[in-house]
Amino acid sequence: MDALELLHQRRSMGKLEGPAPSADQLDALYRAALRAPDHKEMRPYRFIEFSGTGIDRLGEIFAESDRQTDPEISEKHLAAARKKPKRAPLIIAVIAHITPDNKKVPPVEQIITAGCAAHAMLYAAFAQGLGAMWRTGTYAHDRGVWQALGLGEHEQLLGYLYLGHPAGKLREAPREAHEKFVERWDGEEKGR
Ligand SMILES: Cc1cc2nc3c(=O)[nH]c(=O)nc-3n(C[C@H](O)[C@H](O)[C@H](O)COP(=O)(O)O)c2cc1C
Repeated sequence: MDALELLHQRRSMGKLEGPAPSADQLDALYRAALRAPDHKEMRPYRFIEFSGTGIDRLGEIFAESDRQTDPEISEKHLAAARKKPKRAPLIIAVIAHITPDNKKVPPVEQIITAGCAAHAMLYAAFAQGLGAMWRTGTYAHDRGVWQALGLGEHEQLLGYLYLGHPAGKLREAPREAHEKFVERWDGEEKGR
C-alpha cells in the first residue's frame, strides 16, 4: 500500500473477530509505535497487551470501575461492562510514561509522543489488513482502573487499542475539505 494512500484511507473498525494479530503483525505495530516523533528520545510510553484470560480480567476491572461509581448498579450492567473488552481478540492499553521535571520536554510533549505512538499503531494495523479501534470512555480515565493495571504516579492511560480482524466491510474514508482548518498567515496580527 502506498504511504499516502494509507494516510488518506485509514479507517477504524469496531467490529472485530479473531484471530488476534500474529506475533509478526504485533512486531510491526510496535516498530511503528517506536518511530513516533519523540523530543529527546524519551520513549515516554509503555504498552499492556491483553488477550485470553487477560481480557476476562480486564472485563472484571471495568465492572469494578462501574461498581465503584454506582454501588447500586444492576447485575445486567455489570455483565455488559465485563463483556466490553471481549469486542476484540486482543487489546493494547497505551500508557504515557511521563518524566515530570524534564527541563526541555514538558509533560504535554511526552503525552503527545505517546499519542503519536498509538496513532502509528493504528496505521500499522490498517496497512496489514487488521481491524483496529482506539477506545477510551470512563475506563480509560478512572484512577481505580489505572491502579488495577499498575500505572505509576507519573503515568496516564491514553486509551485501549482494540485489535483483530475486521468483521465486516470497512466504511470508505471521507474526503474532507481541509481549507476551513488552514490559515495562511501573512504576518499581520489579527487578534481574536
Ligand atoms: C483518544 C481517542 C479516544 C476515542 N475513544 C472512543 C471511544 O471510546 N468510543 C468510540 O466509539 N470511539 C472512540 N474514538 C474514535 C474512534 O477511535 C475513531 O477514530 C472514530 O470512530 C472515527 O473513525 P475513523 O478513525 O475511521 O475516522 C476515540 C478516538 C480517540 C483519538
